[in-house]
Amino acid sequence: MADKTLDDLFYETLKDIYYAERKILKTLPKMARAAQSEKLKAAFLQHKDETEGHIERLQDVFEIIGKRPRAKTCAAIDGIVEEGEEIMDEFKGSPAHDAGLLAAAQAVEHYEISRYGTLRAWAQQLGLTEAVKLLDATLAEESKTDETLTKLAQTAVNSAAQKKAA
Ligand SMILES: [Fe+2]
Ligand SMILES: [Fe+2]
Repeated sequence: MADKTLDDLFYETLKDIYYAERKILKTLPKMARAAQSEKLKAAFLQHKDETEGHIERLQDVFEIIGKRPRAKTCAAIDGIVEEGEEIMDEFKGSPAHDAGLLAAAQAVEHYEISRYGTLRAWAQQLGLTEAVKLLDATLAEESKTDETLTKLAQTAVNSAAQKKAA
């Protein structure tokens, strides 16, 4: 217990994000179905495909450190997803639905960006050069998705949320 080092922290955090990514993979199709905006729907579906790649990259990182891929329940992502489901429920059919859903999706991306940023820094410190590349590739896709969502919010979704339903 007293001699845990950065390797242990890296492995534990890898299990956390592995759980989170698998949860996100299951959640994105539901979010795509719920989205009223076709553009938001498309963004969710594209990111679902990317998420499959994130899971594969994590499996590769597990292999690099000589471990079998394992998931550890991540209460943070469970909570963020639950909040998103609440919004989908409570705002179903109303103009503000997509703005709320998009914001929930950005909370997911920000969680991932935080985790991957940390994991990349630790991989660097541990001299895991191949892992750094893999984590970096995923981090870039999470950031790009976050930017896409911001643009969608600013150009369409937030203004649509202001309109009264016809
Ligand atoms: Fe991801
Ligand atoms: Fe993501």
